[in-house]
Amino acid sequence: MAALTPDVPATLRHLSLRYHEFDSPDHLSPTERQVWEAARTATAHSYAPYSGFHVGAALLLEDGSLVQGTNQENAAYPSGLCAERTALFGLGGRPSPPPRIVGMSVAGRPAAGDFTPALPCGACRQVMLEYEMRQGQPIWLLLPSVGGTVLRFERLADLLPFHFSPGDLPPRL
Ligand code: THU
Repeated sequence: MAALTPDVPATLRHLSLRYHEFDSPDHLSPTERQVWEAARTATAHSYAPYSGFHVGAALLLEDGSLVQGTNQENAAYPSGLCAERTALFGLGGRPSPPPRIVGMSVAGRPAAGDFTPALPCGACRQVMLEYEMRQGQPIWLLLPSVGGTVLRFERLADLLPFHFSPGDLPPRL
């Protein structure tokens, strides 16, 4: 990588990120475990004949209810949608303002096989973050990572620094 020439005025900034890494889901709280399991059971309803990767997402709402979503694929490949977004858009499309989202989790596995790491794609992170910003309350997130570990983020904003925001749009005419 080319170094900056010494006379160029630039500030080197550092970004730090906080999350917990659990050795296994056995260490989650009962509520967290419920959301974790709901994401896993959701994978049974995934429609993934093309990738063979079955993804489930679960949202825990403030009233204690759970919303599940799964990836839905299509023969015209880009027309499909990720599990995180089917869950969020399903909730967001409800006729009355839904209860706020407290936490969420994601799970993924091959059609016939055990669960694997499943981290949200960039597009899902952008969508997830806007739901968090809209409700003005952080959403925790549990993600399955390598070696059976679980990552716990306190807020979705931590997953997408330098995101695009509604404020980046020009004023409407
Ligand atoms: N997928 C998700 O459901 N969520 C993600 O965050 C990443 C990927 C799905 C999309 C596609 O159906 C399959 O996984 C393979 O990319």
